[in-house]
Amino acid sequence: MESEKEPCEVEYTHLGKSGLKVSNICLGTLTFGRMEESPVAIFSCPTQADEEKAHGIMDRFVELGGNFIDTANMYCRGQSEHIVGTWLKKKSRDNVVVATKCRFPMSTEPNDKGLSRRHIIKCCEDSLERLQTNYIDLYQTHIWDDATPIEETLRTLDDLVRCGKIRYIGVSNLLGWQTQKVVDYTKFMGLTGFISMQQQYNLLVRHPELEEFQVCKTEGLGVLPWSPLSSGMLTGKYKRDEKMDPKSGRLAHDLEKNSKASFWTEFAKDTYWDIMAVVAKVAKTNGKTAAQVALRWLLQKDVVSSIIIGATSIKQLDENMSVATGWSISKEDMETLDEVSKPESASSYPYQMSRLGNTLRVNRFNPKPVVANI
Ligand SMILES: NC(=O)c1ccc[n+]([C@@H]2O[C@H](COP(=O)([O-])OP(=O)(O)OC[C@H]3O[C@@H](n4cnc5c(N)ncnc54)[C@H](OP(=O)(O)O)[C@@H]3O)[C@@H](O)[C@H]2O)c1
Repeated sequence: MESEKEPCEVEYTHLGKSGLKVSNICLGTLTFGRMEESPVAIFSCPTQADEEKAHGIMDRFVELGGNFIDTANMYCRGQSEHIVGTWLKKKSRDNVVVATKCRFPMSTEPNDKGLSRRHIIKCCEDSLERLQTNYIDLYQTHIWDDATPIEETLRTLDDLVRCGKIRYIGVSNLLGWQTQKVVDYTKFMGLTGFISMQQQYNLLVRHPELEEFQVCKTEGLGVLPWSPLSSGMLTGKYKRDEKMDPKSGRLAHDLEKNSKASFWTEFAKDTYWDIMAVVAKVAKTNGKTAAQVALRWLLQKDVVSSIIIGATSIKQLDENMSVATGWSISKEDMETLDEVSKPESASSYPYQMSRLGNTLRVNRFNPKPVVANI
């Protein structure tokens, strides 16, 4: 037994404007399953969990009050969904909110990718089978698809809701204009609307606040930050001038396997280390860990419905879930963290100029922000 901590509590929040209630911590399952040979370096990381370990993590998650689990068909090419499915089979299905995603290729077949009607329906049916359930609570488009007309994608998602295979729909990894476009199209076409946006969001990546999250605020999409700890970077376990041991965790493994990997190439930026120094200071004065500060900072952002955490052990899970309730970062510390992590583009054109529109002219009957005030 890795931890003897008392179970903590979570809060249940509405997922965006919908009637669905989810725990403010969602369990991510990217780390379930393992593939030695995969273009995605994460999937061969030594800290990936096998079925037994993953079931233990999910058991502990629900014991602590969690009811929201996120997976995707492409995580270890179906293995993650399969592991969630064998666990769900032993549980009371209706007590868990299950989210999954489609869009990435599942094979080399020309039709086995994208957001076409054919591929979405096939992915959904395959996910239902792997998850051993007859409905998915939240079905998310994983990234944009330039090749498929948006109407085809949205009509298909609406059909899946109407025939009961999925309950709600969400988006992930979109640009601001794409987010507004899909929201507007669902309205104009009278189709099921999106209730959530899953986006990378953490103290090192804040630019979604400038565009995408403005749409989320005005259109009622709940934000679900992914990689809230920037794959472990924000735990403080990697040090500025120390060579990373590739066995020490996913980030070190990924950098060794593929030093040009998309998400983390900029990990050595000076600004990152400056942010981490402030996180460490706030953690010390509050008697918390860096990971807890980084996670709690997200929970105190008004657009966020639930944060999608990753944990490769029950010890990490306990530490991360303890931020769900019972403690908050003070206004002063939030301001300090906000200031040091402010995205550079927030003070450049057109954001800086557009913000004048907010400050000079306000109509109290139409108070929605046009540009993020960061
Ligand atoms: N929509 C998308 O495109 C997308 C993309 C990525 C992820 N996601 C979702 O978001 C979830 C979370 O993403 P993520 O795994 O990248 O989250 P993360 O919180 O940024 O990173 C989690 C990793 O950090 C390390 N870690 C976590 N807590 C720790 C602690 N307390 N102390 C030390 N190390 C700790 C663990 O890796 P090590 O032990 O190996 O260091 C863990 O696997 C995924 O499972 C997935 O569901 C979605």
